Amino acid sequence: MNRFCLVCQNVDCKSRGSEELMKELQERVAAKGLDDVEVRSYMCFGACQEGPNMVVYPDKCWYAGVKIEDLDDVVAHLAGGPQVDRLDKIDPSLKELIYQLLDTGVF
Ligand code: FES
Repeated sequence: MNRFCLVCQNVDCKSRGSEELMKELQERVAAKGLDDVEVRSYMCFGACQEGPNMVVYPDKCWYAGVKIEDLDDVVAHLAGGPQVDRLDKIDPSLKELIYQLLDTGVF
């Protein structure tokens, strides 16, 4: 099954560098040969002040305030390593709302 790493590309996250973050993540995922992982843009997760935000799905793992320096650990997770707990900062009720939306296939 394919996994997705959805990276918010709306205004607030972009102003915090999410465009560069997504590009860099795409390159690192490709370099590592993670063919089952697709890094994709997302419109907005509704936690704009916490960005840049990204959600790994179907893992249902939300990383907030991600910096370039965090990408090694994020890629390690995508490669089968542990989740990056320090980036798990979002309120559980909002996470659940977004996960339910993703479960309906809205990407
Ligand atoms: S702008 Fe990224 S979560 Fe809204």
